[in-house]
Amino acid sequence: MNNNILCIGAGYVGGPTMAMIAYKCHDINVTIVDINQERIDAWNSDELPIYEPGLEEVVKSRRNKNLFFSTDIEQGIIDNDIIFVSVNTPTKTFGHGAGYAADLQYWEKCARHIREVANSDKIVIEKSTLPVRTAAAMARILEHGSKNTVFTVLSNPEFLAEGTAIDDLQNPDRVLIGGSQTEQGKFAIEKLAAIYGRWVDDEKILRTNLWSSELSKLTANAFLAQRVSSINSISALCEKTEADVSEVAHAIGADKRIGSKFLKASIGFGGSCFKKDILNLVYICETYGLTECADYWRQVVIMNEYQESRFVARMLKAMFNTIAGKKIAILGFAFKADTGDTRESPAIKVCKELLQENAIITISDPQALKSAKRDLADVENLENIVFEADPYKATEGAHAIALLTDWRNYKELDFKKIYETMEKPAFFFDGRNHIDSDMLYDIGFNVYTIGQTEKTHI
Ligand code: UDX
Ligand code: ADP
Repeated sequence: MNNNILCIGAGYVGGPTMAMIAYKCHDINVTIVDINQERIDAWNSDELPIYEPGLEEVVKSRRNKNLFFSTDIEQGIIDNDIIFVSVNTPTKTFGHGAGYAADLQYWEKCARHIREVANSDKIVIEKSTLPVRTAAAMARILEHGSKNTVFTVLSNPEFLAEGTAIDDLQNPDRVLIGGSQTEQGKFAIEKLAAIYGRWVDDEKILRTNLWSSELSKLTANAFLAQRVSSINSISALCEKTEADVSEVAHAIGADKRIGSKFLKASIGFGGSCFKKDILNLVYICETYGLTECADYWRQVVIMNEYQESRFVARMLKAMFNTIAGKKIAILGFAFKADTGDTRESPAIKVCKELLQENAIITISDPQALKSAKRDLADVENLENIVFEADPYKATEGAHAIALLTDWRNYKELDFKKIYETMEKPAFFFDGRNHIDSDMLYDIGFNVYTIGQTEKTHI
């Protein structure tokens, strides 16, 4: 068995993770394959298909040395004995479990492809987020081949967050490797652990059984999302009671047992993982008849949707119950700062609801305008949307600004200059509590932040 690595799926997870392995292990050849030719061409070009701070340096330093991008999936399977599977597993949109269960069609095609092409023993590593017990299903598919090749399936979930992926990969809190507790399984676990062991301390490499590993990934994301929904539920209460959610978050976070992370009230969580993983968890609980557990986790998603709608309702009420024909500037469309990714971004729902009210919206974002255009391509009144990279132009003549992504450069904007070009009274709805609200109020804005009393001149 050779040490060369193949990764099937050149996306947000596969790309950065494999680039980091190549960067840390110069003696291991790492090949990333994808069915999407355009994506592979982009990985081989000067403009990488995803924006991630620090990624470009890592890719460029190893590309065509021990890091290769290709569409030749079959050759990849033949040449490499360690195969990561990192294809997309969106939520099902059809049939049984629609809206909840993971759509495993890409992943299953991949397993069958490996089985058909492989002519030597392989370790197959599940990297995509998958429902619990998928690894076992994968093992069953692989074992039903006619050849004598031995496949060992591992689960090695990824915990990187977008925007900090490179740092998360270099200094992970933990690396999780799940495998069957047989000799063969343990051998494969140690082989993978040895690769991470080149730069991660052994005590941070956690070895578990397959299902614990798969379930830990879903649970970690569910717990993180639950914290955001919890603080967001309190933000609604703060707006009614004149408590300040940032003070409450600070006070509770000072308790070491609670901790200060993931307590920032916001317009809501987005991203490709949180909602999908919770819905997966809900579906699994329901499958096992655990209705109360399913309902408990479903509520985290319901709270998130409420937070997004509540934001628009507050805008509408503040602007005299009508925004028809008014121009609203959207600052930030990505689901968080430092990424061009807009999957499940709260901005999508906010923009759609504003358009339903017949507002004219101008969307600005430093990285995500291309994705924003795709996300909103199916709206009815497309003519009411303008995409504008320059935040000064985007806000010119606007009645209101809705800040939806906490991009650092927004803090440096000249809001006095912006205010002067806007219609009056000018409104500022900060969905991230990102800009100093006293400063905005002093300039003349009517300021609405999350979980705080509004500051108005009218
Ligand atoms: C998440 C997990 O953090 C990561 O470990 C997992 O592998 C993938 O899913 P990611 O989706 O990239 O990563 O983003 P994350 O930083 O977790 O933020 C998710 C969403 O929650 C964002 O929309 C963010 O703005 C929001 N958020 C986060 C808050 O609203 N408040 C907070 O306090 C923290
Ligand atoms: P993630 O955020 O989980 O990395 P992405 O959607 O960014 O998800 O990436 C998944 C990638 O997997 C896509 O580029 C897609 O083209 C690729 N893919 C899906 N199915 C296959 C397959 N059968 N073989 C190779 N690549 C695939």
